[in-house]
Amino acid sequence: MAKARSVFVCQNCGAVTSRWQGRCESCGEWNVIVAETDGGAAARRATRGRAFELEGLAGEGRPAPRIVTGVDEFDRVTGGGFVPGSVLLLGGEPGIGKSTLLIQACAALARQGARVVYISGEEAVAQVRLRAARLNLADAPVELTAATQVEDILATCATGRPPALIVIDSIQTMHTDLVESAPGTVTQVRASAQALLRHAKTTGAAIILVGHVTKDGQVAGPRVVEHMVDAVLSFEGDGAHHFRMLRASKNRFGATGEIGVFEMTGLGLAEVANPSALFLAGRDAAAPGAAVVAGMEGQRPMLVEIQALVAPTSLGTPRRAVVGFDQNRLSMILAVLEAHGGLKLGMHDVYLNVAGGLRADEPATDLAAAAALVSSLTGAVLPADMAFFGEIGLSGAVRPVIHPGMRLREAGKLGFRHAVVPQAQQLTDEDRRAGVAIRPCADVGGLVAAI
Ligand code: TYD
Ligand code: MG
Repeated sequence: MAKARSVFVCQNCGAVTSRWQGRCESCGEWNVIVAETDGGAAARRATRGRAFELEGLAGEGRPAPRIVTGVDEFDRVTGGGFVPGSVLLLGGEPGIGKSTLLIQACAALARQGARVVYISGEEAVAQVRLRAARLNLADAPVELTAATQVEDILATCATGRPPALIVIDSIQTMHTDLVESAPGTVTQVRASAQALLRHAKTTGAAIILVGHVTKDGQVAGPRVVEHMVDAVLSFEGDGAHHFRMLRASKNRFGATGEIGVFEMTGLGLAEVANPSALFLAGRDAAAPGAAVVAGMEGQRPMLVEIQALVAPTSLGTPRRAVVGFDQNRLSMILAVLEAHGGLKLGMHDVYLNVAGGLRADEPATDLAAAAALVSSLTGAVLPADMAFFGEIGLSGAVRPVIHPGMRLREAGKLGFRHAVVPQAQQLTDEDRRAGVAIRPCADVGGLVAAI
């Protein structure tokens, strides 16, 4: 019998080396190499290949219907519900609300009559029950257990009615007998995820794996899991705000770029069907330095306030700080405003903030950011019912962006009466009927002159 062999595996990137090293040569991280035993004889036992029948793309029958939880903001991000037999990874920082979101989704699904199994590897059954009771979900027929051994979990799920959804909270706590490494190591996580993946594909159950992310936003250790699963969702938020955003960074069955917005309340996560109204609530429209962008998050229009503060500096090198905005984009907009807008900003500190803890990373935000900067510098207050969208090029020209109609209609719906849009933007008659007066803007010079 072949002896189990020790291999050295980087816990950060999964690279395998034959000897221990202080620093991983592959990813450059220090103190991340850990000795692990690979499967040994059992895992290496070779089987003779067996020929199987290949199939065509069209297949027989209709595709299986999606499993719709009824939590709309969740279903939107998965692309209209879970696909049976798919595996989804839900990443997020500890305490952001992953377990809360999933117990709510499980309860909603179970109430529709589907069999839903929730496996908690981190909390005791009593703790999960306590949370469910707080959320008024105790009556939902979710099947619950605290377990960490993958074979036991799969055996449990294989008895009785096939589950429509299995939640594994979290993948880092799981371990399988196939490998001998400690739970939480890359090898264990990978092998456990593989076993679960196989179960999903063979039984048609959808499986959600919860994964913890590190400070830099990566699903801790097992980047490998991201490649294996069908969809990767991340649950994000900002400690100071109650908003939580669910984003898809990978989805084999739907579009990425969709976001779901929730608000953490005393009764769990509440869906936010109209995020623009929430993000614009409480804004001080009479202050200079604020401009509203008619932005897009995926296929969804979203109006967000961009706040700027431009003030004379008391330092040798002026400060430039951003929250929720790209630092390089700010530098570029400032350079363009100086070169083509005639502004002098070299002796000013500049701060740019996206209200509500949001991240505004689409180019269409440029025009609103520039308007906020000019408004703060000159002290001119922008009209409260004015929205902006447009990308600024290095030449100072304001360039068209995608989905102008959706942006205008969302602005109109929220009571905005003026929109500053790129002059070159093509608009249909329907776009012009959104109830918003269009103010074309050709370049930053025109913007500065108009404020
Ligand atoms: P949790 O779902 O346990 O986070 P995760 O699984 O991502 O680690 O959420 C924990 C936080 O959510 C906790 O700090 C308290 C807060 N919370 C509420 O504000 N209201 C609620 O109804 C619940 C259940 C949690
Ligand atoms: Mg949790």
